[in-house]
Amino acid sequence: MAALAGAAVLAAALAAAAALAAPPVPAAPPPPADRAQDAELAREGASVKAVCGQCHPLQIVMDTPMSYEAWRETVQKMVDQGARGSDAQFDDIMDFLYRTMTTINVNTADADALAGVLDLPEAAVQAIIVRRKNQKIADFADLKGVVGADGRGLDARARLIFY
Ligand code: HEC
Repeated sequence: MAALAGAAVLAAALAAAAALAAPPVPAAPPPPADRAQDAELAREGASVKAVCGQCHPLQIVMDTPMSYEAWRETVQKMVDQGARGSDAQFDDIMDFLYRTMTTINVNTADADALAGVLDLPEAAVQAIIVRRKNQKIADFADLKGVVGADGRGLDARARLIFY
């Protein structure tokens, strides 16, 4: 189930990448902010596919969420193994991994990580920080209660979140 959620994130990004190549007629375009973010994530997903899909299935990437530090080391290891891409592609890859495949502890992560890894607006980040000062966030349901409606995107990231 958890692996499916991650695979769904990648699948969505790759589908969006395909959609960019041959744009379908959108039924109802998302608001501009979302559309800009979708396009960026789609481009980043395409870079992951192009560079990280050369030697092994992409599933190996989606099956192993890890801390951002560990991703840096892993990607460096892949470069040592022979992974090749442009600087822009590696920027895309690191950003994609940060935004979709990086684990986070919501009781210890700083504000930037909460916003970047969990794609949360400032108000939700502050709600988490205020709450955990008084009482540890216990689990996913607890977290959803703290962030309220801003937590819509958390379901797809549930397996990345630790307490
Ligand atoms: C030149 C071939 C090659 C490319 C390109 C490549 N990998 Fe790998 N990757 C490997 C090999 C070989 C292994 C398994 C052996 C090992 O772990 O050293 C592996 C294993 C992995 C693993 C499993 C965990 C681990 O540390 O072994 C992850 C995660 C991973 N790769 C991610 C990536 C990402 C992300 C990219 C794109 C930046 C990438 N790979 C591109 C060769 C490659």
